[in-house]
Amino acid sequence: MFELYLDTTDALQLARFNKALPLKGITTNPSILAKSGVGLKETLNNCAKILGSDARFHVQTVGNTTEDILKEAEQLHALPYDIVVKIPATEIGLAAIKQLNATPISVLATAIYSVQQGFLAALAGAEYLAPYVNRIDTLGANGIAVVADIQLLVKQHNLKSILLPASFKNTHQVMEIVKLGVGAITLAPEVAEQLLNHPAVPPAVNQFENDWKNVFGDKLSYES
Ligand code: E4P
Repeated sequence: MFELYLDTTDALQLARFNKALPLKGITTNPSILAKSGVGLKETLNNCAKILGSDARFHVQTVGNTTEDILKEAEQLHALPYDIVVKIPATEIGLAAIKQLNATPISVLATAIYSVQQGFLAALAGAEYLAPYVNRIDTLGANGIAVVADIQLLVKQHNLKSILLPASFKNTHQVMEIVKLGVGAITLAPEVAEQLLNHPAVPPAVNQFENDWKNVFGDKLSYES
């Protein structure tokens, strides 16, 4: 089952998009939390009130040694939520991911900018892989092609990882990635907004409304 996440901890945005989108949960990173100024536990509590108790939360570690990341992963896993521990796919991060593979702790390998990084994280046992589509594009490479190659390697080698691409800036990137058959994506609120709003739709709906009202006034369809 495809998993859709919102890449935010903003309560207003979450409440808004949770009405129309089948959100599985949220993804966060240290920059998102720092920008909000609200700590992790309060954030999780607030978001769970909006999304419900079965929502999944992807929460990133901040430690810069393998030992610290492992400690953080255990503490995050012990919180009373469905937590996936996000770990940057660096050398020390991959060492932590490899060790966590033997535990029940779910891990997302994040900050993936290359095919080899995604492949190594999948080999280390990450349950999810988060390649950064737009950030790769911004560096002059092709984010969609990087995701396609990682997806191919995961399939070819029968690896268990689910791709959860992140860092989108437009609907073209989102839909090209979804067409690759990835298992999940995470969207910033601005991109969710773009997906929900096509400029041709409001004029079309207004035309229907005007045509109807000209003949049937304020009656609803079943009242005519
Ligand atoms: C998600 O896992 C990433 O932290 C995030 O989507 C990066 O997105 P950005 O490039 O918009 O910061």
